[in-house]
Amino acid sequence: MAQQAPGVRIDGLTVVYKTSAGELPAVRNVSLTLEPGSITGIVGESGSGKSTLALSLLNAVQPPGRIAAGSVEIDGLGDVVGLQGEELRKARGRHIGYVFQAAQNSLNPLKTVGKQLLDLGRSHGVDDLRGLVRDAKELLGRMGLDGARVLDSHQHELSGGMRQRVGIVLALVLNAHVVVLDEPTTALDMITQANILKIVREVHAERGLTTLVITHDIGVVAEVADRLAVMYGGRLVEQGPTREVLGAPRHPYTKGLIKAIPRLVGDIDEARALPGRPPTLATVPKEGCVFRERCAARLDVCDTVDPEAVADGPRVVACHAVTVKEHA
Ligand SMILES: Nc1ncnc2c1ncn2[C@@H]1O[C@H](COP(=O)(O)OP(=O)(O)OP(=O)(O)O)[C@@H](O)[C@H]1O
Ligand SMILES: [Mg+2]
Repeated sequence: MAQQAPGVRIDGLTVVYKTSAGELPAVRNVSLTLEPGSITGIVGESGSGKSTLALSLLNAVQPPGRIAAGSVEIDGLGDVVGLQGEELRKARGRHIGYVFQAAQNSLNPLKTVGKQLLDLGRSHGVDDLRGLVRDAKELLGRMGLDGARVLDSHQHELSGGMRQRVGIVLALVLNAHVVVLDEPTTALDMITQANILKIVREVHAERGLTTLVITHDIGVVAEVADRLAVMYGGRLVEQGPTREVLGAPRHPYTKGLIKAIPRLVGDIDEARALPGRPPTLATVPKEGCVFRERCAARLDVCDTVDPEAVADGPRVVACHAVTVKEHA
């Protein structure tokens, strides 16, 4: 039975990693609300801070990283940044289902998938282990796998794509109502990916979930997400309803990302890679706009002042050029 989906409010979140040059932010002052029952997608190039942000939802950032500021309020759970020990362990799995990036490599090689499923159930105090196995088999079946066989298998007996689907099932099977999928379909071919995304959407609707999908692939978010957030250099530069953001992007980075998608129909030369490269922790500008080095709309103010995220209805953009234009 679908129960009320929880909302998630990330507010002013900053996450730093300790490096030889001191603590540097991988996520900086990010605010993002996951509306109850919605699917939110986060896109951005490699190193933009997507996984770090996702880990923060579970308070699972590992040293040398730490959450330096901000809060993550989850309905029914409170601020997860304050959770510790047993409370935190219980929240993971029961309240928040999580597929780690490279989930295809995160199974225990020594145990069958079924054994790991039972371990997961026991560690979260599931009484009805038969029901858990039944549910897992059903989900595996929906994802085009032979559930009984997969549960009897060890990791090495499964392909990368099969392991990725197992990862998704393990994130869903404890019936958590906040589900975070970090690059859930990278090991899948396009047809399988489309099928899995369809099932993710179905399960999301049936169970009343609040879902966050992280990917570098705009095609994936276009397929599943109601709302889209774009990250660059640890900052959330634009967010809004997926269709609006993809149809009429405002931030120069979002525009660049969309232009860089090769289209199947039409002139293949039309896809234009964004010039330059995304910054690393060490090269992210300490002041001013993080995107200015690659930006075609750069103004003087961008060198010194970090643009604030400005809301315009459901759209939020952090860009001086956009703000100037709107107020002109
Ligand atoms: N354990 C760590 N120690 C130091 N720096 C780290 C650590 N983990 C991540 N980083 C740095 O933090 C930044 C953000 O990394 P993160 O993995 O969150 O990015 P991402 O957007 O998920 O990238 P990808 O698309 O490659 O998965 C990167 O510059 C990365 O090098
Ligand atoms: Mg990542």
